[in-house]
Amino acid sequence: MYRLLRPLLFRVPPETAHDATIRILEHTGRFATRHLLAQHPPALPCPLFGRTLRNPVGLAAGFDKDGRCLPALEALGFGFAEIGTVTPRAQPGNPPPRLFRIPEARALINRMGFNNEGTDALIARLSAYPRTMPVGVNIGKNRDTPVERAADDYRSAFCAVAPHADYVTVNLSSPNTPGLRSLQEPDMARSLLGMLKEEQRRLAPVLGRHVPLAVKIAPDLDDRAIAALMPVLVAVECDAVIATNTTIQRPFAGPVPFQDEQGGLSGTPLRGLARHVIALLYKGLPATIPIIGVGGIDDADSAWGHLVAGASLIQVYTGLIYKGPRLVTAIVRGLARHVARTGAPDLPAALEIARTRLLSEKSR
Ligand SMILES: Cc1cc2nc3c(=O)[nH]c(=O)nc-3n(C[C@H](O)[C@H](O)[C@H](O)COP(=O)(O)O)c2cc1C
Repeated sequence: MYRLLRPLLFRVPPETAHDATIRILEHTGRFATRHLLAQHPPALPCPLFGRTLRNPVGLAAGFDKDGRCLPALEALGFGFAEIGTVTPRAQPGNPPPRLFRIPEARALINRMGFNNEGTDALIARLSAYPRTMPVGVNIGKNRDTPVERAADDYRSAFCAVAPHADYVTVNLSSPNTPGLRSLQEPDMARSLLGMLKEEQRRLAPVLGRHVPLAVKIAPDLDDRAIAALMPVLVAVECDAVIATNTTIQRPFAGPVPFQDEQGGLSGTPLRGLARHVIALLYKGLPATIPIIGVGGIDDADSAWGHLVAGASLIQVYTGLIYKGPRLVTAIVRGLARHVARTGAPDLPAALEIARTRLLSEKSR
């Protein structure tokens, strides 16, 4: 079906196509989506934050910024979804055009700039969702809040969404909000994440649960910057790391249209950068901090590659635009085949085997 729909969607500007897709998913809901668009992925259970997800494939932040189509996303087979980035107050984002397709590289460049309706609107929708699929909420700062006051926005967004979220992601890595990525610098990160962990502890007895805090990082940090950030993530007891956001690099094999547009690049050209960051984090972080791998996944083999490099779960965005909603089922099916090939009983055990094999191949 998507094979027929894609040429129509690709004939209109990418943001128009995106808005139409969100509207369709919002109005078709769970039932129609299950019957019209999706297949049923096999079960591939895996743990996250003390829960068991039905599979490790999540929707990455930015697709459903305002939490409009959770029932439909659940019907598409996702194991979990991350909505947002949401900021405390609604904001329009950057002026269009701000999203560019590069089909020859199965990539996108975006400079959306956190267009969203704010935490109140998101909470109203999220509290009406029965939470049959775990949902993370990705938070950021408003554009007109100076970076020195970023902590106020993160605190306010965290306290607003935490009661309604299965986890909260602190977005320190969007390239489209000036100054945001400086918050990945170790001292800034320590102070911001330390404050949010305090809020997390303060809220735990009120909410009756600890709302896990994930940190989303950029693929443009060099190895030394990642090495400097990791002890901070450990010291503040961050609950997960999401690697990675879009890149400001342009790792194309040759010239492509729109390559000089400002913004973050996603899709297959990002895959290698994201995997490198995942591998560094896996080497340097304790096993108590799971890694969610994202960047350039558009089939089961690329998902398996991120998992073997060190991710416990994966997320997709750009792959969905090029391959359509059946990508979720295709990835879960292919991962189940990878697991079966190792002879392990489940995904975590299969990953242990595959990682050990990879290490021994490398040391040969
Ligand atoms: C149009 C667009 C908007 C995005 N918006 C957000 C966002 O609001 N917050 C965020 O953390 N990541 C955002 N992302 C980044 C994705 O969540 C993901 O990290 C990145 O696209 C790499 O994954 P992919 O190659 O599967 O797309 C956005 C990506 C795209 C393409």
